[in-house]
Amino acid sequence: MSDHQFSKSYTLPCGVQVKNRIAKSALSEGIAEPEGRPSEALFNLYERWGQGGAGILFTGNVMVDKDHLVNANVMIAEDESFLDHYKTLADRTQKDGTHLWMQINHPGRQSPIYLDKAPVSASDVGMPSRMYAQPRPLEESEIEDLIERYGTAALVAKKSGMKGAQIHGAHGYLVSQFLSPLTNKRTDKWGGSLENRARFVLEIYKSMRSKVGSEFPLGIKINSADFQRGAFTEEESMEVIQMLDEAGMDLIEVSGGTYERAAMVGTMQKESTKMREAYFMDFIVKVRALIKTPLMLTGGFRSAQAMNEALASGSLDFVGMGRPFCVFPNVANDLISGAQDAFHVPDLITGVDKIDMTGMLQTPWHMFQLARMGKGLDPDPDMDVWMVYEKITGKKRPVV
Ligand SMILES: Cc1cc2nc3c(=O)[nH]c(=O)nc-3n(C[C@H](O)[C@H](O)[C@H](O)COP(=O)(O)O)c2cc1C
Repeated sequence: MSDHQFSKSYTLPCGVQVKNRIAKSALSEGIAEPEGRPSEALFNLYERWGQGGAGILFTGNVMVDKDHLVNANVMIAEDESFLDHYKTLADRTQKDGTHLWMQINHPGRQSPIYLDKAPVSASDVGMPSRMYAQPRPLEESEIEDLIERYGTAALVAKKSGMKGAQIHGAHGYLVSQFLSPLTNKRTDKWGGSLENRARFVLEIYKSMRSKVGSEFPLGIKINSADFQRGAFTEEESMEVIQMLDEAGMDLIEVSGGTYERAAMVGTMQKESTKMREAYFMDFIVKVRALIKTPLMLTGGFRSAQAMNEALASGSLDFVGMGRPFCVFPNVANDLISGAQDAFHVPDLITGVDKIDMTGMLQTPWHMFQLARMGKGLDPDPDMDVWMVYEKITGKKRPVV
């Protein structure tokens, strides 16, 4: 056993104890049943991850509305109809003391056109891509309904036996769309000032809390910034984080970027930042000086040394990883035992700048690894990037 910081247990302010400080950040799996029910493939995947020793596993984003989906075969929890399947998921995952938290999301305008021809958002600001349809602004009554739906999903998480729930407030999805002045042009109480733009997420938190009570851990994943001119800034993020801290959040996870500017997977960072691994470390240091809520940092962590140093600095309480869990499902055990001390994932370079600069293969390549584990196979770190390109675009690889 190593005596690294990440091996130590941690008690959240609500009294819930987590066995170590290593977390799998949410990864959309795309292997649920077509109607959004947790599948046998998901049970297999999460059982394997559960055996992998992490303190917390966040599910991939679970949808609150079946008419607005982030990708195909995503889990849905708009009512209790799949409760038995969520119970199986929680049981199969948590056998070895790992905690499973449900990440809850609505894509807003970031729902691909083949799934959503009539997306909704804070306002009618569309994505700058023909892959997405033009959104219409939500009516006030629809906003109230959505707030209720996030609460319902959190209650499904609690009733299933999961140990927590997390709002997806990052990466340009609906909560992000409300927070950003670039996508929120509303002139009612849901737009304009930062206080108004933050109302949606704060009301969601209250709705969830009123349904699950004070002892069930609730968290949020939030952007340090959107990395776009005129969008949600670092200063604004710090103010919203303070509001969430005051509201009673149990865990705040810091990430960054949107699917227009994919900072969350490192496409916006300088090489020097990537060398230091954690992309948003400078931001979390500033946040720690402002609030007491436990903090988790995700994006870029790959080595035992960087994780240990980050935790030892006191600026965060949990290290989160995404892509390493797709290739190394046993990453937490291996870190803790010292069996392996670095978990680098392939760079996924095709050699064609137009493809490589956007990071467009990052999500599907890693999702294909999850599908393999769902079938009981091992991940394949040598999976051909062009095979993934051809599958997702339906086009042949360009001749270079
Ligand atoms: C396949 C894939 C799916 C993802 N799905 C989600 C998601 O559902 N919710 C979320 O908050 N982030 C999602 N992310 C982002 C990751 O949680 C994480 O923030 C990002 O990969 C950076 O961490 P890493 O450098 O350790 O991979 C996804 C990333 C990948 C690669």
